[in-house]
Amino acid sequence: EAAEKGGYEHYMLKEIHEQPTALRQAISGRLDELHGDVDLDIELPEEYLQSLEEIQIVACGTSYHAGMVAAQLFEEHASVRTSVEIASEYEFQGGRDPWRTLVVAVTQSGETADTLSALRKANRSGARTLAVTNTVGSTATREADHTLYIRAGPEIGVAATKTFASQVATLTLLSVYLGRHRSELGSSRASDVLASVRNLPGAVQQALDAESQVLEVAETYVDSDAFFFIGRELGYPVALEGALKLKEISYDHAEGFAAGELKHGPLALVTPNTPTLAVLTEGTRSKETLNNVKEVESRGSPVVGCSSLEDGGLLDAAFDVPEIGVMEPLVANVYLQLFAYHVANLKGRPIDKPRNLAKSVTVE
Ligand code: G6P
Repeated sequence: EAAEKGGYEHYMLKEIHEQPTALRQAISGRLDELHGDVDLDIELPEEYLQSLEEIQIVACGTSYHAGMVAAQLFEEHASVRTSVEIASEYEFQGGRDPWRTLVVAVTQSGETADTLSALRKANRSGARTLAVTNTVGSTATREADHTLYIRAGPEIGVAATKTFASQVATLTLLSVYLGRHRSELGSSRASDVLASVRNLPGAVQQALDAESQVLEVAETYVDSDAFFFIGRELGYPVALEGALKLKEISYDHAEGFAAGELKHGPLALVTPNTPTLAVLTEGTRSKETLNNVKEVESRGSPVVGCSSLEDGGLLDAAFDVPEIGVMEPLVANVYLQLFAYHVANLKGRPIDKPRNLAKSVTVE
């Protein structure tokens, strides 16, 4: 098993470090940056794409957070109304036109019972379905009309890491595919998005190279009462994912909030012993989030930023995110993964097999 971990103490840490490779695999052969186009090998009929009225994303856990990122990109790049639903809460509502609806099941394993159940409801309703998965031949691929692979390679750690990155990258390519086929996304804007995706593996590597800084910050805050994560737009799902990662493996109380919601309640929880981690990158309305940073700081809470901006010395610690455009929040997420890992490791938690959790949950 030590050999399989490739010198890392845990699978999770190995998989965090595999992200540049996983991302290169996810995008390999799929980008045509020159023409602002992608080749995804999913044959959705042209006429269907043009008349598509709605996308519903169904997923659980980390995959749900990837779906939240995707929903924003589908709306922005393809002008199609998109909802993202927790798979166990999903029902195909009456009054929608199933023939003009695409239901996208995002599931790393392709075997999560809740997601399969949602997929079956969508199939029964007559909607077209697409599985976005890591697992060749999984149940989701057999039951959905179409399949898009994220090509992350096997993930052993219970807490999903590299598969989240690969899901987001692949779903971003899908947003470009939809946008181009629906004539909603011009080639030069599409090229910009694709350039950001191309630059992502290198930017993630830069974050990984700064791991010792993340360890130091983890050592500073390891004994905190609770941890809060804030972000806006694409930074909001990243905040939720950062909190989920930390609670899964460290067992600490961690919560993610839409930064603007802090003042509507959660601010009451903030004390000098509850650090806040903020996503301050492109695509996250970071200038507005900085105002929320000030709100928590004035209550004495330390703030750690994953940031590609000049913060004017406001932050207690800053993890540097390279300026690569729309994919920057995914680099912030890598810092949050490393933070969760090191907090949990300092506490001696069984990181690859957290209590009560399973890699793939096959009961509803
Ligand atoms: C379990 C895992 C999570 C994962 C979720 C969805 O709860 O512990 O890490 O995000 O299932 O898994 P899926 O395979 O459907 O992406």
